[in-house]
Amino acid sequence: MPAVVIVGAQWGDEGKGKVTDLIGESVDFVVRYQGGNNAGHTVVVNTPSGEDKYALHLLPTGILSPNVTPVIGNGVVVDPRVLLEEIAGLNERGVDTSRLLLSADAHLIAPYHVELDKTIERFLGNSKIGTTGRGIGPAYSDKVGRVGLRIQDLYDPSILLQKIESSLQVKNELLTKVYNRRSFDAKTVADELLAYAEPLKPYLADTSKILNDALDENKVVVLEGGQGTLLDVDHGTYPFVTSSNPTAGGACIGSGIGPTRISSVVGIAKAYVTRVGQGPFPTELDDEIGQRIREIGAERGTTTGRDRRTGWYDAVIARYASRINGLTDLVLTKLDVLTGFDQIGVAVAYEIDGRKVSDMPITQTEFHHAKPIYEYLPGWQQDISGARSLSDLPENARNYVRFLEEISNVRISAIGVGPARDSIIRINSFS
Ligand code: GDP
Ligand code: IMO
Ligand code: MG
Repeated sequence: MPAVVIVGAQWGDEGKGKVTDLIGESVDFVVRYQGGNNAGHTVVVNTPSGEDKYALHLLPTGILSPNVTPVIGNGVVVDPRVLLEEIAGLNERGVDTSRLLLSADAHLIAPYHVELDKTIERFLGNSKIGTTGRGIGPAYSDKVGRVGLRIQDLYDPSILLQKIESSLQVKNELLTKVYNRRSFDAKTVADELLAYAEPLKPYLADTSKILNDALDENKVVVLEGGQGTLLDVDHGTYPFVTSSNPTAGGACIGSGIGPTRISSVVGIAKAYVTRVGQGPFPTELDDEIGQRIREIGAERGTTTGRDRRTGWYDAVIARYASRINGLTDLVLTKLDVLTGFDQIGVAVAYEIDGRKVSDMPITQTEFHHAKPIYEYLPGWQQDISGARSLSDLPENARNYVRFLEEISNVRISAIGVGPARDSIIRINSFS
C-alpha cells in the first residue's frame, strides 16, 4: 500500500516535476496536496521527433502519463480560470485531461485575492516577500480565517454570494480606504466564479475516499509537493515563505490520507541551491560563479520568469530537510550543471556570531547572520549528460555525490544529469 511523498528539499524548483513524471510511469495516482499556481513544474518528454516541454502550474505532473489518475487535493488553492486555461492548453497539444479529479474541499482563489496579493506586496516596499502575485497568501489567509470559498460553493450560488459578500465587507474597506484601490462588487465576482462551475463539474470527486480506497487495493499513490521545505509556512524561513505546508506532513492534511499510509518520502535537491523572491540564503553567490550557474542551469522562474538567485549546495539545510520531512531518499538533480567548474563549494556548517553551528539555528535572526563554512571539492570537465550509472561518472563527480550523501544524512537514490525524462542515474528504487 505504498504512498510516496515527493518534496522539495530546498527553496523550490529542485526538479520535482521531472522526478514525479519519471516515477509516474509506474504509479496509479499523482496528487498535488498544497500550493496553487505559484508552482511551476517543467517536464521534458522525449518523443520520436525530439523533445516536448510542458510547464505545469496547477495540474499534477501525472496528467502527462496516460495510465495515471491526477488529483488536485483539498489542500490546494485553485484559481479556476487558470486551471481551465491549463487544461485547454494541454488539450490543444493532444494531452487527455479527462482523468483529472478535483477535491470539492479545495479552496478557490478569487480575483480579489490576486489583487490583494499584489497590493500588499507594493505596500510592504522593502519588506516585501517577492510573492508570485497569484493570490496564494490571501486565499490561504481566508481559509484559515474561515472566510474562504471552496470549490463546492460553486454549486450553491446563494451560499457562494453570501460568502463573497461577507468576505468582501472588510476587504473592500481595506482596498479603498487603506490601499487606495477599487472595491469589488460581490455579485460580479460571484457571476465570474459561477461561470466556472459547469466546466469544472466533471472533475469533482471525493478525492480522499478515492485515494484511501486505492491504497486499500495496493495501488501506488504519489503525493507531489509544490515549493520546498524552506518555503514551508511552519518550517521555512518565515516570513519569506509561501502560505502552505509543502513539507511531508502537509501531504496527509492536503490529501486526506493518514500518516500510516506513507511508505517513503523522497526529497529533491539540486546539486547547488536556488531561490526566487526575497529572504535569507546563506550560500548565495552574488558573483560571476553565481551568474555562471544561472546561465548553465537556465535558472529563470517557470511561473514568473524572474532570475533565480543561485549558490553552492548547503548541507545544513539538506540535513534540516531530511529531519523535518523524515526523508527516506534524496534525488540530486542538475549535477550536469556543475560540469566545468575547477572546484565546487559545499557549506558543511555555518559560522554565526563567532560560533560554528551545524544545525539550522533556532532563530531567524541567527539564520540571517549565518556565514557558510565551505569545503571545496575538485570539479570535473567531462560531459556527464549521457551517464546512466554511477560508474559512467568521472571520479570527481562520484566523489562529490558521495560527499553530499554523507553530509546530508540521507541516501541519494537517483541523480539528474539533464532535463529530459531519461537523463537520470537510478541507484535505488523509492517505494
Ligand atoms: P520544480 O518546480 O521543482 O518542478 O522545478 P522546475 O521545473 O521549476 O525547475 C527545474 C528545472 O530544471 C526545469 O527546467 C527542469 O527541466 C530542469 N531540470 C530538472 N532536472 C534536471 C537535471 O538533472 N539537469 C538539468 N540540466 N536540468 C534539469
Ligand atoms: P515550485 O513548485 C520557487 C516563492 C516566491 C516567494 C514565496 C511566496 O515551482 O517549486 P507565494 O506566491 O507562494 O505567496 O510566494 O515563495 N515561491 C516559489 N519559489 N518555486 C516555487 O514553486 C514557488 N512558489 C512560491 O518566489 O518568494
Ligand atoms: Mg518550479
